[in-house]
Amino acid sequence: MTITFIGHGYVGLVTACVFADFGNKVWVIGHTPEKINRLKNGDPIIYEPGLKELLLKNLNAKRIHFTSEYTTPIGESDVVFIAVGTPPKKNGEADLSTVFAVAEKVSQNLEKKITIVSCKSTVPVGTNARIEKILNKLKPKKTHVAVASCPEFLREGTAIYDSLNPDRVVIGSDSDRAKNILMQLHKPIDGKRVITDLASAELIKYTSNAMLATKISFANLISFYCEKTGADVEKVLDAVGLDKRIGRIFMDPGVGYGGSCFPKDVKALIKIGQALNLDTTLLDAVERVNAIAKENFARKIIDVMKGEKNLAIWGLSFKPNTDDIREAPSLFVLNRLLEQKFSLSVYDPAATSNINNLFGSKLIYFDDPYEAVKNSSALVVLTEWNEFKQADLRKIKSLLKKPIVFDGRNIYDPALMKGLGFSYYSIGRQPTR
Ligand code: UGA
Repeated sequence: MTITFIGHGYVGLVTACVFADFGNKVWVIGHTPEKINRLKNGDPIIYEPGLKELLLKNLNAKRIHFTSEYTTPIGESDVVFIAVGTPPKKNGEADLSTVFAVAEKVSQNLEKKITIVSCKSTVPVGTNARIEKILNKLKPKKTHVAVASCPEFLREGTAIYDSLNPDRVVIGSDSDRAKNILMQLHKPIDGKRVITDLASAELIKYTSNAMLATKISFANLISFYCEKTGADVEKVLDAVGLDKRIGRIFMDPGVGYGGSCFPKDVKALIKIGQALNLDTTLLDAVERVNAIAKENFARKIIDVMKGEKNLAIWGLSFKPNTDDIREAPSLFVLNRLLEQKFSLSVYDPAATSNINNLFGSKLIYFDDPYEAVKNSSALVVLTEWNEFKQADLRKIKSLLKKPIVFDGRNIYDPALMKGLGFSYYSIGRQPTR
């Protein structure tokens, strides 16, 4: 098949490369010429494990093509995926202006007798019906469109694996033709098929992200109880998670969830609920607990480090294996510590330059994690990159001015840290001193 992706972010580019790798001819449309040139030359722009290799392989095989023009790709495509951003507006609603603008451009360039237009962007219920209206209003005579919603469930850092091995492939449409073609296109991909209507597919995506964010906030809330009562949050959640009805996955307590999805999608679902006159208390609390998780961690550091103002910070991205810092808990913690006049020596395996663009000379940047630790009074871990889990703790102790570690992701064993002589502060567990 010939398919077009509009948008080359995590969802657009990863899925485009995966579909090209299956042997399809794939067009990717973007609107920034400089980025299109980089993509044509095999630079994926974003950091995602395995993506550069997959991109180069399919560029060499001439299966993937990048352009800012709509005419040829849309004219020859059987399926067009809209995968542009839906960032939050100031009031928390999803900004759909780009989605509707590209829908107009698609409709003006349709040539095939029938084209399937499928939205992968996360959009509120009813958006695909509006896309369908735009397409039908502007399309040339003798062309037909069928609209579908195919939400994406990939995670940054494991995006290629997730695209190939999803738990489910959701296809929402009122058109049998669209359902059949999309079923055919997704044949090489694992996972259960969920064939449904447009509105349900749209709500499935928000519900999944809101449920995962709820699990994380719930785990964080229990960590607050543990800190006050002397219980150990890891033991509590391990035992609770053994109940198959609950499960342990996505209940890792920490310094809060971030990224371009959970914060945005929880906010958007609240807005959707408010517009429907629903009580959104539960979702409001998910957001509130996430804010408290970030604040509690920063407060812990500020309270302990009285008079000692040099800190090493490890981990700046919102999660490991990505350079993405959108809504990263690090942004909140760094700002909070800077307000308190701390001097911060920062290290991250991938996100340093993105942080540098935001913070500039307010931070001291290091290419080597141990150099950042040297002469600092404490180490603060904000993201659980593997290289931090395997760090040489004895070396850290010898480099730090004081043997103090604040662990925002519970990656170290308190007993081990105590044995090594660290004052060790983690989440939902008693400090060791
Ligand atoms: C999330 C969903 O997991 C994907 O299924 C979805 O496709 C994607 O959003 C999207 O809507 O596009 P992502 O934001 O890339 O994926 O990353 P996650 O692994 O979900 O992590 C999100 C945040 O939650 C991170 O800050 C992470 O540190 C935090 N988290 C995750 C926890 O604090 N505890 C956990 O147990 C799990």
